[in-house]
Amino acid sequence: MSSPDRFLNVGLLGCGTIGSGVYHLVKKNKKELERACGMPVGISRILVKDPDEPRPFPVDKKFLSTNSEEILSDEKIDVFIEVMGGIEPARTFCLKALKSGKHLITANKELLARHGQEIMEAAAENDSIVMFEASVGGGIPIICPLESSMGGDRIKKIMGIVNGTTNYVLSNMSSSGSDFHSALHEAQKLGYAEANPQADIEGSDAASKLAILCSVAFQVGMSGEQVYREGINFIRPADLANAAEMGYATKLLAIAERDGEEISARVHPTMIPLDHPLAAVSGNFNAIFVVGESVGELMFYGEGAGSLPTATAILGDVVKISRNIKDPSVFRRPYWSNPCRVKSVDELTTKFYMVLEVIDRPGVLAKIAKVFGENKVSLESVVQKGLGGEAEIVLITHEVVEKNFQAARSELLGLDVVKDIPSVIRVESTEAYEGQR
Ligand code: HSE
Repeated sequence: MSSPDRFLNVGLLGCGTIGSGVYHLVKKNKKELERACGMPVGISRILVKDPDEPRPFPVDKKFLSTNSEEILSDEKIDVFIEVMGGIEPARTFCLKALKSGKHLITANKELLARHGQEIMEAAAENDSIVMFEASVGGGIPIICPLESSMGGDRIKKIMGIVNGTTNYVLSNMSSSGSDFHSALHEAQKLGYAEANPQADIEGSDAASKLAILCSVAFQVGMSGEQVYREGINFIRPADLANAAEMGYATKLLAIAERDGEEISARVHPTMIPLDHPLAAVSGNFNAIFVVGESVGELMFYGEGAGSLPTATAILGDVVKISRNIKDPSVFRRPYWSNPCRVKSVDELTTKFYMVLEVIDRPGVLAKIAKVFGENKVSLESVVQKGLGGEAEIVLITHEVVEKNFQAARSELLGLDVVKDIPSVIRVESTEAYEGQR
């Protein structure tokens, strides 16, 4: 690796929304960055697909190249910043950079959630550092707090709003009563949602981020595919109104808990009490609520996406790498090396909100109550709303084992008096953490 003392030479792999933000901040905050790093920082090469593509911040074309071989083999570069996104060619380029002894900063959640172990092993074999603060929560510092600030604690639980698109859509549906498709269209118009928002809506973007958080918080190798997930497209404005009436906000939450040697990790719409700090996180904002055995409850809040917030997190990683270059205290990152035992969602114990569309006649409630009773599902509240010859029953269960609840749900769907079950949403009950201090 080139001598670290005089200058930190950075190569950018990708120069779209985030990359051009990094370029802009490196120039704009030159002094601040030099002070924090203890050396000047400069971007000398930028790999792009198309030099003429429009970018949020202007970039001097003399740095741009479409030749990946030329950039990746540049001896003078100390650190590569990968902001291309997607699996290939990002994976190949990152591995190549690490194998030639360069340090790597990546914002690529999909890559880490699928190939984290391979990336970390390549770094360890070549004495390189991999940093990835921007991969979760955009500008929110969360990886560093989990690994360093809370490094002496045992993390019990993580609950995050880690996808701005879905948070915007659910917030908009709650406040305006609009349906899912209109709220999503509005998010796209405002630039909060991608042209193809499938990964956001179906929860796979949040699942990748939760896998990264688990890998750091619990020092295991978790992949995005190990995270149970449900998306938000079935949520109706009526569910959000019912939730609000009952004292809940509805959010797409990414939830992970350690239970001895096992971890539960899931992403799904969740009703959360209105007095929980996550309930107040609206619009396209993100927040990660962490419970440490000794520190108790912490919450990290901010802009989870966008050019400059994400670029700021990347510059934070540049600072850490430059400090490590000046004083190499061997920045080992053990994540993704230990296999992870993930609990099946069937074992989850939680409360549920359920809406049943039923025929309104004597004995219907008795039949429904019998199915719940036989499956050991106890009800906390039941409200019936008459709709002529039909009725809607809105209920919340006490805490039940997921498997029992799902068995009851299937049986209910088989009853002649039940026309449909349009909504089922898990409900998080949040007692303040008592701790084991
Ligand atoms: N698509 C993501 C979101 C942003 O909506 O939060 C990038 O991680």
